[in-house]
Amino acid sequence: MRLCGSHIGIQAGISRGAVAAVSIAGAIVLLFLLIFLYLKVFKKSKVKRAPLFPSQAENNSVLQHRHDSVSPLDKMSESAALVGRSSPGLTGITVDKSLEFSYEELARATNDFSLANKIGQGGFGAVYYAELRGEKAAIKKMDMQASKEFLAELKVLTHVHHLNLVRLIGFCTEGSLFLVYEFIENGNLSEHLHGSGRDPLSWAARVQIALDSARGLEYIHEHTVRVYIHRDIKSANILIDKNFRGKVADFGLTKLTEVGSTSLPTRLVGTFGYMSPEYAQYGDVSPKVDVYAFGVVLYELISAKEAVVKMDGLTTESKGLVALFEDVINQPDPRIYLPKLVDSRLGDKYTLDSVHKMAQLARACTQENPQLRPSMRSIVVALMTLSSTTEDWDVGSFYENQALVNLMSGR
Ligand SMILES: Nc1ncnc2c1ncn2[C@@H]1O[C@H](COP(=O)(O)OP(=O)(O)OP(=O)(O)O)[C@@H](O)[C@H]1O
Ligand SMILES: [Mg+2]
Repeated sequence: MRLCGSHIGIQAGISRGAVAAVSIAGAIVLLFLLIFLYLKVFKKSKVKRAPLFPSQAENNSVLQHRHDSVSPLDKMSESAALVGRSSPGLTGITVDKSLEFSYEELARATNDFSLANKIGQGGFGAVYYAELRGEKAAIKKMDMQASKEFLAELKVLTHVHHLNLVRLIGFCTEGSLFLVYEFIENGNLSEHLHGSGRDPLSWAARVQIALDSARGLEYIHEHTVRVYIHRDIKSANILIDKNFRGKVADFGLTKLTEVGSTSLPTRLVGTFGYMSPEYAQYGDVSPKVDVYAFGVVLYELISAKEAVVKMDGLTTESKGLVALFEDVINQPDPRIYLPKLVDSRLGDKYTLDSVHKMAQLARACTQENPQLRPSMRSIVVALMTLSSTTEDWDVGSFYENQALVNLMSGR
């Protein structure tokens, strides 16, 4: 019995041992299974969370803004720039259909591209006023067809948003290529400075427009991963909105025409009078090409003269605005001669100090050696300082503001 009992005991021991062994083996298998499943799921979710374009994370560090004045809009355009940079050749990008308009819709919005709707004619084509989906728009009918690369580039550009850049809303590729832009109410800076029929811009407004345009340019030079160079900065490409703020137009167009045409990849684009020496002579392109042209615009803001000035008299001689100002600035005391170059429509509603500072900035921008020209970022800082001191000096605006007049006169 005892034997029997011990036999039973042994049997029970063996079966308990077996159960334990089986359970341990089961637990190990389960553990492996769990580890396997965890790794599989984790890996999968990691793949899911990875950026669409692999270099995005790496690019983010490059995209750190170097000062505080960056809006959420700026950040949006950074992601657009990322798309551009992380896909060399831009082959993987498909164009978002929502940006595409039909020819029929554009024709309806412009009264069949009627002459009455035509705003102007530029180097790339004609521009028409449109009422599109309840919004005002400007449609540029380009004298070219769109290639596949062109459309990819366009997609990037439609995502570049900045308060001081005229926004590209979309496009149409039926027949020719049409670019749809936001409509800017108050024409271009050239019309305000050189045209008749518009009230003269106050000095404060001129400084503000200079600052706005500088900000737009600084943005494309420094805050998008791929550096954009405008290459056609001029007063006609600075548009004035309803609040008399400046917006840079046609940003990215030279790039578009470049990717659009295979025959002339290094075509010289730009406007005479605004072209820097190194660009005009050797076709050297750098952001400093825009800085030079911007300097010419600053001289235009001071003088309301064209970039190339026809000299009076019987000769057909003309002189660049840069040379004209340099003759004065190089004098021992430029302040004596500077008023002669100031736009007479300003009357005495400016301070010589402010004008002199702007002329000095313009001179720095138009130096022959591109490396000696300031960056757009430094120009923005300089103009911010000038703008903060100029506001107080706009005598005209003092008198327009009755409350301020009362305050100053103690009423
Ligand atoms: N988005 C817009 N809103 C309002 N007017 C515009 C807009 N875009 C262009 N314009 C106007 O249309 C006219 C023609 O512009 P366009 O850009 O074709 O020529 P441009 O600026 O004179 O020369 P370029 O071809 O070298 O840019 C200009 O007078 C400009 O003021
Ligand atoms: Mg233009």
